[in-house]
Amino acid sequence: MIPFYLPLLAGALIHETTASTAAGPAACTNLTTKLGSSKVVSSQLNLQYIESLEYWNTLQDAYKPSCVVYPASAQDVSTALQAIRTADSRFAIKAGGHNPNTFFSSVDAGVLLDMSKMTAKSYDPDTTLATYEPGGVFGDLYEYYVQYNRTVVGARLAGVGTGLALGGGMSYLSPQYGLACDSFRELEIVLPSGEIVTASESSHPDLFFASRGGGGNAYGVVTKYTVQSRPIGELYAGNVIYAFPQKDTVIEAIGNFIKYNTDPKAAIIGTYEKLPTPDLNLNLDEAIIMFLVYDGPDSGAAFDNFTSIPHLLNTLSIKTYPEVVNMPIPLSTELSRGANIFRVGVHRPENNSYSTALDKWRSWAESNKGKYELLSLDFQPVPRSLTDASKSQGGNAMQMPDGPWFWLNYLITTPPGMSEADYNAVQESYRDLVAGTGNAEGLPLFINDANVDQDPLSSFSTFERLKGIKKVYDPDNFFVEKTGGWSFE
Ligand SMILES: Cc1cc2nc3c(=O)[nH]c(=O)nc-3n(C[C@H](O)[C@H](O)[C@H](O)COP(=O)(O)OP(=O)(O)OC[C@H]3O[C@@H](n4cnc5c(N)ncnc54)[C@H](O)[C@@H]3O)c2cc1C
Ligand SMILES: *[C@@H]1O[C@H](CO)[C@@H](O)[C@H](O)[C@H]1NC(C)=O
Ligand SMILES: *[C@@H]1O[C@H](CO)[C@@H](O)[C@H](O)[C@H]1NC(C)=O
Ligand SMILES: *[C@@H]1O[C@H](CO)[C@@H](O)[C@H](O)[C@H]1NC(C)=O
Ligand SMILES: *[C@@H]1O[C@H](CO)[C@@H](O)[C@H](O)[C@H]1NC(C)=O
Repeated sequence: MIPFYLPLLAGALIHETTASTAAGPAACTNLTTKLGSSKVVSSQLNLQYIESLEYWNTLQDAYKPSCVVYPASAQDVSTALQAIRTADSRFAIKAGGHNPNTFFSSVDAGVLLDMSKMTAKSYDPDTTLATYEPGGVFGDLYEYYVQYNRTVVGARLAGVGTGLALGGGMSYLSPQYGLACDSFRELEIVLPSGEIVTASESSHPDLFFASRGGGGNAYGVVTKYTVQSRPIGELYAGNVIYAFPQKDTVIEAIGNFIKYNTDPKAAIIGTYEKLPTPDLNLNLDEAIIMFLVYDGPDSGAAFDNFTSIPHLLNTLSIKTYPEVVNMPIPLSTELSRGANIFRVGVHRPENNSYSTALDKWRSWAESNKGKYELLSLDFQPVPRSLTDASKSQGGNAMQMPDGPWFWLNYLITTPPGMSEADYNAVQESYRDLVAGTGNAEGLPLFINDANVDQDPLSSFSTFERLKGIKKVYDPDNFFVEKTGGWSFE
């Protein structure tokens, strides 16, 4: 669904481009010759083309690439990058299409590399290593590996794509095994030059380091992931939903969990939701939804602090991993498509920072009724066990300081029919709310939840090193100039 106010926003969202308007079609013509018309679709009426333009932030659905290329191999990606470069065209790399930032995986008048046809996967019982290609979503991967009683560290919602792992990747299993990128053992990467390389601890170690949470479309196109798989069986998991009058007792329990939980099999997300409807003193415009996931059939006392608070609903039960990533209801990530924007915060659990953030967010929500369709604030603990697990596997591009600390994800979904001026005003105001909540010194902003204007890489202690690696692998700024992404300035 394309919101009808998009033409109003287009002027604000489309970047200046250095490529001529003929560059996209020229690259597409060249690629149709080289790859064949089954892998290159230029007709805007073609069903595949239309399906490729579905983004979780639906504001991006309106951009019209000159063609969509569906690579089947690393060689196809290499051919595509070389033709795009020769034609001086813009481009984008799309995996699951869930990044809400404009032009990260969308492109207007350029080449869209849609990775969705590359879905090969494997599992080797001798080494316990798993491989997957970048197409498809984590739900498909979990369904596949579960036949071996194994899984890979990835998304907490089935519909998210593999680009998640390049941004770090927070999983329900992360307190045990680190972020998704910490389980990387080898990556096949097509460099901006078109050269196909293997990155690991021993081959292109700098590229391997940067690709573990230092951004996706910056150093090349990943065409194959080899990762350490993990055992999976039954989980004890569910949602507990509270009425908003419990907001203070629940935030206290979240704060205690962040500070004191030491059981790495226990993971939570705490979500506060706000709808735009008038309150009417029924508290129907607000809800608190806890996601509680225990890796094993018996959670012991891990979630007692949550279940003992009076609640409206408790769906905790024994579940399979594929069921867990479809909570609260199957297809929930699809239903949540809309004019969605993310922002991120990072805090230590000191001085009731969690309550302060919640109170500021809620008061913004109250005074901006009507300007959003949905707001949510998600609390994501980063326990010491997670940062230890990351370190023991070599550490990622964030070089995460010791937990406990937590990331906040701020979501805003704006309603259809907003003027460009109103849209910009509400986004600026939400930006100021988040900035005004003050991030902890010395902790990295999570790029998977960040807005492009938050410049999250500059919060990494490794930023200078990443800048150097970026220069080595994208020496003539091909990716900097021709596709969207994080700033290395
Ligand atoms: C509903 C929802 C749930 C989420 N849940 C989680 C969660 O549980 N944990 C978490 O960590 N994050 C989560 N996120 C954030 C998510 O990780 C990011 O939005 C991520 O960028 C999405 O990856 P994607 O493949 O779906 O999106 P895309 O937009 O297709 O890709 C994301 C970025 O990576 C680049 N990229 C993708 N594939 C490649 C590749 N093969 N080579 C080079 N560059 C590539 C793209 O160009 C783009 O810049 C969630 C987001 C949403 C919307
Ligand atoms: C097509 O791309 C190749 C590089 O892959 C280049 O050598 C050739 O000049 C291009 N042709 C046109 C017409 O752009
Ligand atoms: C997976 O686990 C189940 C339950 O323990 C067991 O019955 C089955 O044999 C296992 N499958 C494999 C491939 O190990
Ligand atoms: C539950 O809360 C108490 C404080 O009321 C705290 O001491 C305890 O560690 C918490 N347990 C967990 C698992 O969060
Ligand atoms: C918490 O408060 C103490 C005392 O006011 C202060 O020294 C400390 O810096 C604060 N911590 C944070 C993270 O703001």
